[in-house]
Amino acid sequence: MSGRKGAVLVVGGTGHLGAEVVQELHQRGYVVHVLLRSTGNATRLQGLCKLIQGDVSKPASLQGVCAGITVVISCLGVSTKKGSGNPANEAKKVLQKGLIALFHEAKRAGSVQQFVLIGSVLSRQLRYQWAGYQAREAAVDVIIKGCQDGNMAWTVVDPSAFFKDMVNILRLVKKGSFTGLGKLLDHKANPIHVQDLAARVVDTITRKEDRNIRVAVGGPETFKYREIIQLAADAWGMKEVKIRTFPLWSARVLEWFLQGFAFLSVKLQRFQYFLRFLVILSTNDSVGQPTGKRRLDAFFTELASQARQAAPALEAEALPQSDAQALLTED
Ligand SMILES: NC(=O)c1ccc[n+]([C@@H]2O[C@H](COP(=O)([O-])OP(=O)(O)OC[C@H]3O[C@@H](n4cnc5c(N)ncnc54)[C@H](OP(=O)(O)O)[C@@H]3O)[C@@H](O)[C@H]2O)c1
Repeated sequence: MSGRKGAVLVVGGTGHLGAEVVQELHQRGYVVHVLLRSTGNATRLQGLCKLIQGDVSKPASLQGVCAGITVVISCLGVSTKKGSGNPANEAKKVLQKGLIALFHEAKRAGSVQQFVLIGSVLSRQLRYQWAGYQAREAAVDVIIKGCQDGNMAWTVVDPSAFFKDMVNILRLVKKGSFTGLGKLLDHKANPIHVQDLAARVVDTITRKEDRNIRVAVGGPETFKYREIIQLAADAWGMKEVKIRTFPLWSARVLEWFLQGFAFLSVKLQRFQYFLRFLVILSTNDSVGQPTGKRRLDAFFTELASQARQAAPALEAEALPQSDAQALLTED
């Protein structure tokens, strides 16, 4: 955007990354609009932006949401929590069709100069290996093609992994042991703090070199997962952690079994979706350009000390609930 700061529409602004992007935009003096499904999720956003109700899976609700907007930032994600539907179908509905509907609305508005969306380092490389990646990459194809007329620029920010997802390791390690797929331990990632990522996302608005490219972004330090487990142990003051591993073939057998039976329940479908992601994570490095300053050891140490000081209720809140979902959050 040249010289002046126009209005930015954030979609997914109630989410983990989206809320930080809204905060960052607000701090930098942008006028921010947030498209959200329910104002019940908007407590953190009060006073920072204008709230606009809409659901990307209901294209009629998007009519006019981009009027007067110069940049659209999509931080959309798919919920895999208890109570949500089949995640593969949700991904298609939200990350593919929803994102495309939003893009068409941005084109229709005529004022939008840049469309920014969040992908993932692995999504780009392994698009056909997971329903979540396939859905998003299908939308990216449409967006890149739709921008070829030169009227709008696109940017895809591809994060490696979030600190948030490493919290699951911290939680598991607290119990004294870590269980995972053996191959995972020697794969690498450079997770990034959500505030560093939000700042990089907002930078794409003013960095001309970020137009019409994918930007792979990670945190300042790259670790093997076994080193992240050790950092978690250090944060809890433990000398060592018992690591139990399963061979990759056992996950493959389970996947094969689920292919035949997952149709029986949404719970099995969610597990199938998670397991596929775990296999991908356990067989690939996830590393982006080093960005930001926040360090994982400091993050772990702070969380562990908060949890130690506070009552058990706070501890439960600080450390996410499900063991089974360790390392299994989307992307
Ligand atoms: N976690 C990682 O390590 C990682 C790594 C690389 C990339 N990513 C990607 O980064 C992105 C953001 O992740 P995140 O953890 O911030 O996601 P998140 O916390 O789950 O937030 C998802 C957001 O999307 C919104 N949303 C979902 N369906 C919608 C719909 N139909 N219409 C409008 N809004 C909808 C949600 O709104 P509600 O509040 O209404 O649910 C929420 O604001 C995701 O695309 C994820 O795949 C994550």
